[in-house]
Amino acid sequence: MEQEFVRHLSADSRYFRFMGSLRELPKKKLKLFTEIDYQRHMAFVATIQSEGKELEIGTARYAATDKPGTCEFAIVIDDAWQGSGVGGQLMYSLETAAREQGFKTMEGIVLAGNYKMLRFSRQLGFRCYHQPGEADTVRLELTL
Ligand SMILES: CC(C)(COP(=O)(O)OP(=O)(O)OC[C@H]1O[C@@H](n2cnc3c(N)ncnc32)[C@H](O)[C@@H]1OP(=O)(O)O)[C@@H](O)C(=O)NCCC(=O)NCCS
Repeated sequence: MEQEFVRHLSADSRYFRFMGSLRELPKKKLKLFTEIDYQRHMAFVATIQSEGKELEIGTARYAATDKPGTCEFAIVIDDAWQGSGVGGQLMYSLETAAREQGFKTMEGIVLAGNYKMLRFSRQLGFRCYHQPGEADTVRLELTL
């Protein structure tokens, strides 16, 4: 289901999510994404029923970083569902889960040209930081 979801994303959404031009998840990444421990690595997926089949339409995940109390998040929504509130719902669940696991800070790295994500994350309360020497990316940070 996860692989089908990634294959179905537009090239732009895949590029913004993975910061590269991958068409599908390499085996190792697919395993990492789907075999989580629900504590240091958590993921939520949004699904719909379509023609008797469960289809993934969005996913948000976090993973603990080396910095104590800090996790890094990522999110992507199927193109046809973007702008319909799915992303907001997934982020709400993800932030709640991270807080419950004792994380204090959630951070993320996004491409500086990803205006939709920058707008979305600002509305969710994330602060944006431009990092010296990293003109292509912006760091997002939320106190949980
Ligand atoms: C950026 C992205 C995740 C947003 O997801 P989405 O499902 O389209 O977002 P939503 O529909 O939940 O949000 C839509 C609107 O509600 C706002 N919103 C959602 N939840 C909110 C909340 N809890 N509080 C305030 N505002 C909220 C959003 O900011 C946005 O505002 P707008 O209508 O003024 O634009 C999505 O466009 C996407 O998948 N992009 C490609 C992948 C990507 O760039 N990932 C980021 C790198 S990890």
